[in-house]
Amino acid sequence: MKVTVVGAGAVGASCAEYIAIKDFASEVVLVDIKEGYAEGKAMDLMQTASLNGFDTKISGSTSDYSKTAGSDVAVITSGIPRKPGMTREELIGINAGIVRSVSSSLIEHSPNVIIIVVSNPMDTMAYLVHKSTNLPKNRIIGMGGALDSARFKYRLSEALGCPASDVNGMVIGGHSDKGMLPLIEKAVRNSVPVSEFLSEERMTQVVEDTKVGGATLTGLLGTSAWYAPGAAVSAMVQAIGCDQKKMFPCSALLEGEFGLNDISIGVPCVLGANGIEEIVEIELNDSEKAKLMESAEGVRKTNGLLEVNA
Ligand code: 2OP
Repeated sequence: MKVTVVGAGAVGASCAEYIAIKDFASEVVLVDIKEGYAEGKAMDLMQTASLNGFDTKISGSTSDYSKTAGSDVAVITSGIPRKPGMTREELIGINAGIVRSVSSSLIEHSPNVIIIVVSNPMDTMAYLVHKSTNLPKNRIIGMGGALDSARFKYRLSEALGCPASDVNGMVIGGHSDKGMLPLIEKAVRNSVPVSEFLSEERMTQVVEDTKVGGATLTGLLGTSAWYAPGAAVSAMVQAIGCDQKKMFPCSALLEGEFGLNDISIGVPCVLGANGIEEIVEIELNDSEKAKLMESAEGVRKTNGLLEVNA
């Protein structure tokens, strides 16, 4: 399996490292516009191969997409990250042009590629790829919910005083500080609803901490996070590469599902060799439905900032 990761910054390089360590892909190509940067990151990562025990070949390319030819999956992390106090939506002006041009270069050299969009504002960037390329909708996937769900599980494990491996929970909706929707009423600790362990107040705190998980880290780090975003997208690449039929909340183009049309937003998806194999229309209670609609309005507002020549 060949994977391209566009953007050799912290998220892209972490994604490449986790893919290599999981050792399911034969090749990872890192691409960046900064002269020598992707090549340097790739070489540094390859020098961990004997230590971390992987055979995946990682190479780097400065803006030469011919080296990405024949990629099965391509991850777009390129663009500027947010600074403390910024929203993801404020990045659209610069990142839209980058994502449009990168996706076109990827498809030129890998017509059958499955694209995973990470660049923010992610739901709108995924929508842009749908509108500016002719890829089938199952082959354009936005990564946000997998990351937000990992942060949700972190906050749940913190509240419950248990390992994250003992909890499960999913975040759907837009990948935004206000729009994401942690499904707290569906969250469990080893199959037991977390409401049996946590007060209403504590569950509300878990939800609120999850929603600002990215902003919290940006405040601490001075830039966007990278380990968890890299790990989240590498898990999605693995699900595709190994045809796992694993369910992740992903930003997917909806055509009537959940009562929504012409929008890419986080919903439960089964990922396998064909990318999005299925959008799973789970039962939502009235409050969850209303919050998803509200979240969709926020995504549509950001989409409205795109001058997309569809
Ligand atoms: C985050 O939430 C970068 O949007 C990503 O950290």
